Order: sequence, then structure tokens, then C-alpha cells
Amino acid sequence: MDRAVEPVAEPVGEPVAEPVGEPGERPRIVVTGATGAVGRHVARLLAPVARTRLVVRDPARAADLRLPGEVAVADYRDAPALERAMAGADAVFVVTADPMRPADDENILAAARSAGARHAVRLSWLAVADPGADDLIARWNRNGERLLHASGLSWTVLRMRTPMSNALSWAPSVRAEGVVRALGGTARTACVDPRDVAAVAVRALTEPGHAGRTYALTGPEPLSARDQTRVLSRVLNRPLRFEELTAEQALRRWRARLPEPVAQALLEAARRRGAGEAAAVAHTVAEVTGEPATPFETWAKEHAEHF
Ligand SMILES: NC(=O)c1ccc[n+]([C@@H]2O[C@H](COP(=O)([O-])OP(=O)(O)OC[C@H]3O[C@@H](n4cnc5c(N)ncnc54)[C@H](OP(=O)(O)O)[C@@H]3O)[C@@H](O)[C@H]2O)c1
Repeated sequence: MDRAVEPVAEPVGEPVAEPVGEPGERPRIVVTGATGAVGRHVARLLAPVARTRLVVRDPARAADLRLPGEVAVADYRDAPALERAMAGADAVFVVTADPMRPADDENILAAARSAGARHAVRLSWLAVADPGADDLIARWNRNGERLLHASGLSWTVLRMRTPMSNALSWAPSVRAEGVVRALGGTARTACVDPRDVAAVAVRALTEPGHAGRTYALTGPEPLSARDQTRVLSRVLNRPLRFEELTAEQALRRWRARLPEPVAQALLEAARRRGAGEAAAVAHTVAEVTGEPATPFETWAKEHAEHF
């Protein structure tokens, strides 16, 4: 049986306020990373209940994704643009993506604080809870959580396991050759639907009761890449083959789009997955949203057109 990861209430960074707007008004919520795997769903789910402002680098991407809400163009390196984007914010969803740039979290939090925002919800990585995880990405996420705790805002941390949407990187070879290629094909991971992570984020951004909480967010079952290939094959109703990559082949692929230290961190994370360290299932999605976590088969059916 898999060890459950319970939501953790961190002993540091006591909440200073709950996320609420002015009485009678929908809260103003700023969503950073609004074009990302989780942020796009946060934007969509928040639209009916909040006045949203979506921070994007490229407004055309927000338009392609048909994201609802006001758009503010800002790069995380551009402090004045971030300050304009945060004007009037009650709460902020924080997504950063570059482990080589810890200043991105600092810039977002500084802009949120100076705009008078009261609550921030940061997307993080569940591996940070593993004391054996000492790769660049784990260290950067731990630092991001520390910055959040020290920000003076009330906070919630969402530690996500691998999002199911990572399987979209297999779509080109599935379409062209009927093949999934990955490193560590038998390593099981409790991958999570990014829409479930977004649903938890929306609760944490709009409801009381989540300040000072750190949530472990996984899907309902641990699956290997080989298991996911079988599920995809069933859903697509055509045979698919799984091909194991060597560590050198996987590194070559990561190096083509990422700096060397990030590629090495991904290799180290794959090694830990191989040792079973990403297989534990948490029940936090259901506890926070009241809805069970989405199985991979459901995610695959709803994204079948990509494959
Ligand atoms: N991906 C995973 O496997 C995984 C697993 C567990 C946890 N996490 C954690 O989830 C968090 C997000 O990571 P991710 O790589 O998965 O994110 P992602 O879905 O790729 O989203 C990143 C978002 O940030 C935006 N962004 C990146 N750099 C920016 C900049 N300089 N200025 C403005 N916007 C910028 C991107 O905008 P553009 O559309 O313009 O690029 C995108 O909207 C990280 O803390 C990561 O450790 C990821």
C-alpha cells in the first residue's frame, strides 16, 4: 500500500490575513504564469468568482488559449511592469519556472506586497518534502517557499507531483510513430491532473481556511510511463509501443531546450522516481475540493485529440 502524504501545516510564516476582497466586491486576483499548465486553469476557474488580471509575456498566447480576464504584459525581470500588473490585487497566484532565477519569486512577491495584496498562493514541487532531494529544482522551490513565508503576506503552498499534462510531450511521436519514449519507464509516479491543482488553488485564493497551509497534491494512483502508454493505447484504440531511453539520450533531449544544471536536476529527479520516491498518493485534492482526484484515463480521454 502506498504511503499517503498528508497536507502539512508549516510551523513558520504564520498567516497574517485571510484572502478576501472588499466587502460586497469580488476579489481582485492576479494570476502569474497564466499561460502555464496550471495557471491557465486557475484563470478559467477564477473568472466567474473574481476580477482576474492575467500576467503574461505574450498576449497572443493568452488569446490562443482563450483565457478570460484582463491581461497585463509583464516579464518577471521587469519590476515596474509587475507593479503595474499587481495594482489593486487582493491575492496573487505565484508561478515561477526558471530554477536559475530565484529573483523571479522575489520580484513577484515585492510587487504584490507594495500593491497591498494580502494573500499569495505559490505553486511548488512535492519533491521538496523529500529530504533526499537536493537537486537544483528542489533547492530553488524550497527557496521560493521560504521567500513566500518571509514575504509578509499570508500564504498557501501547493506542492504538486508531476502534472499529467507532461504526457503531451509524447504526442508528436505517438501521432507519427505510435511510440512513447521516456527514461525510467517502470518508475511509478502519482501524477496529478493540473485542473485538480487549479481547483485547489482557486479555493486557497478565494476561501478562508487555507492560510499557513502547505498542500501535497497528487493524482489518485501511481502510474509508470509504461502504464500511461497502456492507458493511452486503450483510450486511442490503437496499439502504442513504449521505448526506454538511456540516461544519455534523455540528457541530450533536455540539453536541447534547457541549461545543463536544469538537465542534470531532471536526471536526478528521474533517478529518485526510479527508487519509488514519487509514488505516494495524497488525498488533499478531495479533502480541499470535495471532488476525487482525476484518474489519468479521464485526463487522457479529454486530451485524446492531441495524440
Ligand atoms: N512541470 C513539471 O513537471 C512540474 C512538476 C511538479 C512541480 N512543478 C513546479 O511547477 C512550477 C511551474 O513549473 P512549470 O515549468 O511546470 O511551469 P509551466 O506550466 O511551464 O508555466 C510557467 C509559466 O510561467 C510563465 N513564465 C515563465 N518565465 C516567465 C517570465 N520570466 N516572465 C513572465 N512569465 C514567465 C510562462 O509563460 P510563457 O507561456 O510566456 O512561457 C508560463 O505561463 C515550478 O515551481 C515547478 O517546479 C513542475
